[in-house]
Amino acid sequence: MTQTHDIRPVLVLGATGKVGARVAARLEALGLAVRRGSRTASVPFDWTEPATWGRVLDGASSAFVSYQPDVGFPGAAETISAFAREAVRLGTDRLVLLSGRGEPEAARSEATAIAAGGRWTVLRSSWFAQNFSEHVFVDAVRAGVIGLPVGDVPEPFVDVDDLADVAVAALTQPGHDGRTYELTGPAALTFTDVARILSDATGRTITYVQVSADEYVAGAVAAGLPRGDAEGLAGLFTSVLDGRNSHTTDDVPRVLVRPATPFADYATRMAATGVWDVSPVEARS
Ligand SMILES: NC(=O)c1ccc[n+]([C@@H]2O[C@H](COP(=O)([O-])OP(=O)(O)OC[C@H]3O[C@@H](n4cnc5c(N)ncnc54)[C@H](OP(=O)(O)O)[C@@H]3O)[C@@H](O)[C@H]2O)c1
Repeated sequence: MTQTHDIRPVLVLGATGKVGARVAARLEALGLAVRRGSRTASVPFDWTEPATWGRVLDGASSAFVSYQPDVGFPGAAETISAFAREAVRLGTDRLVLLSGRGEPEAARSEATAIAAGGRWTVLRSSWFAQNFSEHVFVDAVRAGVIGLPVGDVPEPFVDVDDLADVAVAALTQPGHDGRTYELTGPAALTFTDVARILSDATGRTITYVQVSADEYVAGAVAAGLPRGDAEGLAGLFTSVLDGRNSHTTDDVPRVLVRPATPFADYATRMAATGVWDVSPVEARS
């Protein structure tokens, strides 16, 4: 149940993305006014164009802040800090920041943003399960081979639906100001475990292979990712996926008062949508 009676819109950045789209839909389902922030929104917002920030912040009560291209990339902290200062100056004083676990640059982004003032909640997230169904890895799953420059390191993949539920709680309910949540799934899985679970869910053989950083970048660029982003992600994967984030937390169940969603449930749910289906022609090639 929402505790918010403010009729001003909630600004949702990254509103066409994996997390932002879910946050916007949930807020609207609660009857709240939502202002979508992205380059393709009716009032465009662009992280690289500070002149676009004031227009989307104007009159917004609170904001879900999802940075692009990645909160862990160099330079993110300076940009997020500048955005937070502008938000607080314009009266948008409740901000929920989507962050990443165990990433030094993401931690710097959190600290500089909090220093801007206002009421903050930080959502430090594990790897999204939905990277396998709504991101560069969807084609890898369809092709049956997931390749990453990561060894046998367990990661507690979080379901983005859980993450969006926590974001909405932080935006609409009391008790979350000043909190930093570490959002994980209920169990840590290696990428080999992930491949096995996806195989079970799809009824096809999906394997995991460890590749070099250069091989990962080449594959990601071929899949449509800009080279700079692919290189940045390869850098993050090889540094952050070293076991520092393998432990699970109980922040999702504590905030939502229900268990976090297991990766296998996500896989079964997504397999039923047909997202990983391959056509007979693809299967033969
Ligand atoms: N993937 C993970 O496992 C993971 C884990 C922890 C944290 N994170 C963090 O999650 C964030 C990404 O969230 P997501 O996966 O939901 O996003 P996403 O699915 O990659 O979607 C990107 C969103 O950002 C918008 N966008 C792209 N470039 C933009 C720009 N220059 N200015 C303004 N908006 C822009 C896009 O809309 P338009 O194209 O319309 O602009 C879209 O709405 C990153 O900060 C990342 O560090 C990710």
